[in-house]
Amino acid sequence: MRSYNIISALPSNFKKVYKVESQGAVYILKEYESAEDAEKEMQIAGQIALTGYAPKVIDHQDNLVLYEYIEGENFCEVFRQATMTDDVESMELLATRLSIFLQIIYSFTDKVVKVIDFNNYVVKDGRVVGVDFLKIDEGMPYEDVASAIAFALMNSAGQYYDCYPFVYKLLSCFKLEMMDVINEVKARLKQRASQIGARSDIDIDMLVDGLVDFDKKGVDWRKLI
Ligand SMILES: Nc1ncnc2c1ncn2[C@@H]1O[C@H](COP(=O)(O)OP(=O)(O)O)[C@@H](O)[C@H]1O
Ligand SMILES: [Mg+2]
Repeated sequence: MRSYNIISALPSNFKKVYKVESQGAVYILKEYESAEDAEKEMQIAGQIALTGYAPKVIDHQDNLVLYEYIEGENFCEVFRQATMTDDVESMELLATRLSIFLQIIYSFTDKVVKVIDFNNYVVKDGRVVGVDFLKIDEGMPYEDVASAIAFALMNSAGQYYDCYPFVYKLLSCFKLEMMDVINEVKARLKQRASQIGARSDIDIDMLVDGLVDFDKKGVDWRKLI
């Protein structure tokens, strides 16, 4: 691999991520804990990149992978801004775009995202582009819907219910009702609440009770296969 100048280190949790430069072009360099992790993410990103919904792999060596830099807005920031200003249209657009990204994942891999963190998506030219594929694994699409709903509730900039337009829209994109995912949402909320830095002002049992009144229909499992 050629040498690259580090411009900055980006906030990350599971690997080291740098914005780098070489011959006037900007890239993302990821340093993984192992060559296996590097191989896994590189494989998935490479597959999805064919659709324009993931960064292209430029170069790699051992536990280092160089990716295309996706210039755009951080999904989490756009989401927080929309909830802060009660911008229903933006919230609905984000939900629709996220669901399109997820459908691409399901069509091009036999896996699901598993843990949805809005910081792993860049909004670019009207698309939600994924940049972190390390947690992708076997599972069911409804798990992703539940994970996204839990993340939305915990990261709403105002009250947790300010993000309901996002939640409603995401469910409707998947032709699901809240009842179909409520147990999974609850499990994900509990998981997140126990993590460092999670907001502590939410009573999860009360929140879940509120969500149950969202709608009362049951699951149509055929829609999830
Ligand atoms: N190809 C890319 N283009 C633009 N930004 C990126 C790219 N890859 C990663 N990032 C940014 O770097 C952050 C950390 O990278 P990520 O792969 O998510 O690390 P971690 O697994 O530690 O969460 C992301 O949240 C995103 O903001
Ligand atoms: Mg990440």
